[in-house]
Amino acid sequence: MGMSGHTAGQVPIAILISGRGSNMVSLVVAAQEGRLSADIRVVVSNRPDAPGLARAAELSVPTAVLDHREFSTREAFDAALADELERRGVRFVALAGFMRVLTPVFLRRFAGRVLNIHPALLPSFPGMHAQRQALEYGVRVTGCTVHFVDEGVDTGPIVAQATVRVRDDDTEETLAARILAVEHWLYPVALEAVLTGQVSIVGRRVHWADDPGEPLGPVVV
Ligand code: GRF
Repeated sequence: MGMSGHTAGQVPIAILISGRGSNMVSLVVAAQEGRLSADIRVVVSNRPDAPGLARAAELSVPTAVLDHREFSTREAFDAALADELERRGVRFVALAGFMRVLTPVFLRRFAGRVLNIHPALLPSFPGMHAQRQALEYGVRVTGCTVHFVDEGVDTGPIVAQATVRVRDDDTEETLAARILAVEHWLYPVALEAVLTGQVSIVGRRVHWADDPGEPLGPVVV
């Protein structure tokens, strides 16, 4: 442990969830296997009944619940959330199925230090039910996006994207399942690049220090 209270090279992070937590698990496992330079200080859910809380506990990660219904305003919730994370020494935040829009009250305190994963190729299909939106629109290719979080909904600078082909017989469930498998691969890779300083934000664009110039990973067909 260094003087800052965390192992050298490991960034203290929090993962925020609202539900199942499968992306959270993929990040925790990546950290435990040494593929992610993160010291996961806490998994926070805004819902006390989120199934992901038990999955985090099984993986020996501390958990906390901050029930948004106990706060009278979005800003009060956001201030309490930022307080909780700062109290635990958190320096970076990964949203993983966190279903609350963060206000500037939170984002100002973690400016440029919040990532999210979205199950579509942004800027297509932001918001809820991205996989259903993709099917209804009729796109032939969709995928997932890891992006920095700004004050909009799914609008921040894009770090990485991976593609998934839409099949004629896809339902929302089958498409979501194939996208999810790619999410579980992409999120640890993108977060690792950010935590180790391999990317920089230039306007709306994110530059990779060592851009391979090819798809980052699997193109799922
Ligand atoms: C994922 O599809 C993610 O892209 C979206 O919400 C879903 C969360 O799933 N933001 P899980 O809780 O990580 O299993």
